[in-house]
Amino acid sequence: MAKDQTPVVRLQDYAPPAYLVDRVELDFRLDPQSTRVRSRLHVRPNPDGPGGDLVLDGEDLELTALELDGAPLAGTAYKLDKDRLTITTPPERAFVLDIGTTIDPSANTRLMGLYRSNGVYCTQCEAEGFRRITFFPDRPDVLAVYTVRIEARASDAPVLLSNGNPVGSGVVAGSDRHYAVWHDPHPKPSYLFALVGGDLGRVGDTFVTASGREVTLGIYVEKGKEDRCDYALEALKRSMRWDEDAFGREYDLDVFNIVAVSDFNMGAMENKGLNVFNDKYVLASPETATDTDYANIEAIIAHEYFHNWTGNRITCRDWFQLCLKEGLTVFRDQEFSADVRSRAVERIGDVRTLKAHQFVEDAGPLAHPVRPETYKEINNFYTATVYEKGAELIRMLKTLLGADGFRAGMDLYFDRHDGTAATIEDFIGCFAEATGRKLDDFMLWYHQAGTPEVTASGRYDTAARTYELTLEQTCPPTPGQPTKQPMPIPIAFALLGPDGDEITDLKTESPAVRDGLIELTGTRERIVFTDLPAKPVPSLLRGFSAPVKLTANLTDDDLLFAAAEDSDPYNRWQAVQSLATRILIAAQAAIADGRTPEIEPRFLRSLEHTVEADALDPSFRAQVLSLPSESDIAREIGRNVDPDAIHGADQWLRGLIGGELGACLTDVYRRFGSNLPYSPDAAGAGRRALRNTALGLIAGTGQAGIETAEQHYRNADNMTDRMAGLSALTRQGAPEADAALDDFFERYRTDPLVLDKWFSLQATMTGADTLDRVTALMRHPAFSLSNPNRVRALVGAFAAANPTQFNRADGAGYRLVADFTLEIDRSNPQVAARLLSAFRSWRVLEPVRRAAAEAALRRIAGHEGLSRDSADIVERSLD
Ligand code: PHE
Ligand code: ZN
Repeated sequence: MAKDQTPVVRLQDYAPPAYLVDRVELDFRLDPQSTRVRSRLHVRPNPDGPGGDLVLDGEDLELTALELDGAPLAGTAYKLDKDRLTITTPPERAFVLDIGTTIDPSANTRLMGLYRSNGVYCTQCEAEGFRRITFFPDRPDVLAVYTVRIEARASDAPVLLSNGNPVGSGVVAGSDRHYAVWHDPHPKPSYLFALVGGDLGRVGDTFVTASGREVTLGIYVEKGKEDRCDYALEALKRSMRWDEDAFGREYDLDVFNIVAVSDFNMGAMENKGLNVFNDKYVLASPETATDTDYANIEAIIAHEYFHNWTGNRITCRDWFQLCLKEGLTVFRDQEFSADVRSRAVERIGDVRTLKAHQFVEDAGPLAHPVRPETYKEINNFYTATVYEKGAELIRMLKTLLGADGFRAGMDLYFDRHDGTAATIEDFIGCFAEATGRKLDDFMLWYHQAGTPEVTASGRYDTAARTYELTLEQTCPPTPGQPTKQPMPIPIAFALLGPDGDEITDLKTESPAVRDGLIELTGTRERIVFTDLPAKPVPSLLRGFSAPVKLTANLTDDDLLFAAAEDSDPYNRWQAVQSLATRILIAAQAAIADGRTPEIEPRFLRSLEHTVEADALDPSFRAQVLSLPSESDIAREIGRNVDPDAIHGADQWLRGLIGGELGACLTDVYRRFGSNLPYSPDAAGAGRRALRNTALGLIAGTGQAGIETAEQHYRNADNMTDRMAGLSALTRQGAPEADAALDDFFERYRTDPLVLDKWFSLQATMTGADTLDRVTALMRHPAFSLSNPNRVRALVGAFAAANPTQFNRADGAGYRLVADFTLEIDRSNPQVAARLLSAFRSWRVLEPVRRAAAEAALRRIAGHEGLSRDSADIVERSLD
């Protein structure tokens, strides 16, 4: 295979820009095939820069005009290459550059730069999309003030939006065109530029900030969908208030707009004052959105809004610093969700996500540090590691420094770096300075990839009345990092007495222990607690206080005790998960050997006990009743994985729970039904989650269970329940499932976002005919290669969430995904590269599947004309 020739970008090569752009005036004449862009740049040499030529990035642009201080540039004064425009030896003073370009938004299938989605003009510039609009130093450390004029046919695009505040509008005399002018007073990098034009509906409101600024809020959507925006609008107002209360951050423009588009590569984008969203994260009604959809909408609306301070006011110096804005902003949105919903349940959900995605990434060939040091394609670094592990690092910082120290550091960061492009060192430096604590060792968390493994062993000495706890850490090798240094690991903990209470006033000489926290800094730490009358049960890593893999020498008895008694709800949940994991790993080994699996009966009683405990939050009980997923088990096994055996174990345990806990589950199912109208609040969602989890188990117990699921599907008055009924049927592979799927299609055939659920459910069915089903669905009229949501709903779900069928031993699952990916790679490389990351765990599979997956990867790698995005993923996966 011909190695990809793309140059590697290195953090160590960072140099400040040679030229700065203080102001940009953009003038757009929108046209579906031929949009004309005039750009006026007010340029000056950077006093701290290296000097030399002025290099402007550009991609897929037609250059139509080029003037310096009003005079056309001679052909000898510039050089035009495939990916840049170089002005050779420009003046050593400030000057004005006028650039004309023409672009074709309709031909833009990569959805980067200016494109058309369902007739709406929109832009996506992060990370390097602005260069597909005009020639520009397209790097985040060039901050400019933008004024944007947009002109379009009034009938085509009655709505014209850009960043900042509206400053003018009117009709173009003697034509069918009109225009709008926007001015954004806050200097920003080009990746935060945005423009939207189209015939959109609007839902509006106002928000008054803490200091009394009135902000006009607008959400723009496809006409006819206005009635699905209420929840997003309320979530926006909650977010704005929360950032004032929790971080003292106010909004800073007169308007804040959100636009929902149907073709979007990612979830949403935080463009200054003009967030652009994948419509899936805006539109919701009880009939079309599930409780999970509502929660995602709230979190993502908040996330993009919070970027206004962490990302926009303070941006990244270069793309290696991506976690500076993303990790921090994910932390902020998680804290917001914890505050407006249930903190314990939010944490459990966040940790589930972290382990399911980031731990897997960290254990495979695509592992990279939270702040990477090299990349070939930056689009491939919008990863679970940068986002989710990045958020965990902020959480650890807060745990280590305490709430007040953390807030002091944040305040200093906002104060000192506002209006600049910063680095992780700048950020961490603020916490060190504000608290007086050295944080040099903490930087290792940003440098070293891999999930640290912590082992804990406790020993009680009855005669001496001491409890000795030994903690050790190691970190496995990752690409380019064969050895690791020990990292500072905050382990929140308690020792539980025989009654289950936390033992107060613990006595120890160890300097590593303070106030419910052990700071493990070296490779090994031995802590002796004295004066304990009885053997305690340790509750370690409470609230999952560090992103590590903890192995403790706890017996089944200890875990059962923790499941019933631990006062930390996270650890209480974790104890049940750990027990279930032990049982499932043993069961899959038994199944692989043709033996009958065995159950620890006390596990079932413990589960029953929790499910029946009405003192506990229903959403928490739903989490306890949700067993580890098949991929969780695969991750825990870590080598020679046989997905069929794991699936067998899962079926077995679910069947057992459904049968043994039948009365309890049926009782929950009856008691948690509601006659009240649907409301998406956390309490209602929690009750539905518990009831629907029970339903899923009941459905596995025979024909009566199937009938319950069918009725549940039919009688549902909201999408959460409807989907719960339908997925209970498809999961059982019941003959009733097909009729219900047909019914579902007929009900929602005009609603693409709802049909995505229909595609995904079918893509994750476990029968051997799923492959044919997915192949047929690829030709379904409701499917579309050009819409990323459709692609992810069908092929993404099949590859990432159907372990037995994607990993078919005959390799047909891999071939299907490989063929499809090669097809989509030609039009949208970013989406293709993301699909390919489903192959990242191929090395942990048993040999037959491993060989089949490798063959598929090698075929992709050898494909003529493979995009840089996909080449980067397959090459690293094969390395
Ligand atoms: N910056 C976006 C976020 O909020 C993600 C994104 C990245 C969107 C690249 C589009 C393109 O996380
Ligand atoms: Zn973000």
